Amino acid sequence: MTASLFTPLTLRETELPNRVMLSPMCQYSAEDGLATDWHLVHLGSRAVGGAGVVMTEATAVSPEGRISPGDLGIWSDDHADALRDIAAFVRERGSVPAIQLAHAGRKASKSRPWEGSAPISEDDGGWETLAPSPEPYPYDGGETAATREMSADDVDQFVEDFRAAAERALDAGFEIAEVHAAHGYLLHEFLSPVTNRREDDYGGSFENRTRLVREVTAAVREVWPDDKPVFVRISATDWLDDRESWDLDQSARLAPLLAEAGADLIDVSAGGIHPDQEVPEAGPGYQVPYAERVNEATDAAVGAVGGITEAEQADQIVRNGSADVAVVGREFLRNPYFGLEAAHELGEDVEWPAQYRRGTFD
Ligand code: FNR
Repeated sequence: MTASLFTPLTLRETELPNRVMLSPMCQYSAEDGLATDWHLVHLGSRAVGGAGVVMTEATAVSPEGRISPGDLGIWSDDHADALRDIAAFVRERGSVPAIQLAHAGRKASKSRPWEGSAPISEDDGGWETLAPSPEPYPYDGGETAATREMSADDVDQFVEDFRAAAERALDAGFEIAEVHAAHGYLLHEFLSPVTNRREDDYGGSFENRTRLVREVTAAVREVWPDDKPVFVRISATDWLDDRESWDLDQSARLAPLLAEAGADLIDVSAGGIHPDQEVPEAGPGYQVPYAERVNEATDAAVGAVGGITEAEQADQIVRNGSADVAVVGREFLRNPYFGLEAAHELGEDVEWPAQYRRGTFD
């Protein structure tokens, strides 16, 4: 039988009630990395609104891994406690609570978008950023914080930070852990020759550049229970064909290695490594072909993201076998009930919350 958007998907022993996933989206509304009421309302609304998986924004595994001072974090037990009620609420609504674990690498220490997304220097309350190589991200003007090339000890600590973060996330009640290896943040910086100029075991060859993401995935998998899935988000390409860079061929080669390391779903995004990137027209489903290619290369499930805004379109992505899950970002910012409305449009028998039934279609 051909699967559709509302066919449940079982990954390990975790059942996703449908294949609509809320894409991770920073809210810049945490306090010292701690989740606030905003996160409960934002994530809770998307669970009420019918997302099968509710993924938190990038949640930093260490303080210096935050993009901005407003990012979520999970580097202490207090941080896990602040997320506990959110995970429970999402689960009570029948959605699967998921957390994206992240480190921003050299793209850390920036102000919130509504404050300009500008680099914050150490003098202005910013912090030293970590990266595979010491070049800072080439921002257009503005003084950046210093970027430190990670030592062997830093690399070991980084893997341990991911492992500890996953343990805390599990304790907080999350059922899916996603490793953020996309968008020019730290793990992507190791993958891409644009940012990785190391000469040790973590730089140079494909095997070396992919070592850290494989180690991190394996570390998360070690602490994540056998019945629960691990996802990895990658950038399928740097969109920098004019130079040696990370591309779709390497992503297709990486996907089965991530599956071997313990990933159950590859969430396929793109870009973010360098401002010279040539982003194609961001029209409907603009990254779906990348998901298709990765899907051909691995037995793991695959998520497609980017310009998915319509029920029919999301349904086709699943029906065509392009991907197993439709990951929806900005449309969910506009419409928290995208999941329920998609079900209605597609003629699926999905119940609205009892509290809202008098406002529904029949
Ligand atoms: C994002 N995106 C993003 N991606 C990610 O992996 N972790 C994150 O924390 C964020 N944060 C974020 C914040 C905001 C406000 C936006 C709009 C986007 C990228 C997002 O998950 C998604 O991949 C893109 O927005 C493309 O999908 P849509 O929006 O076209 O459905």
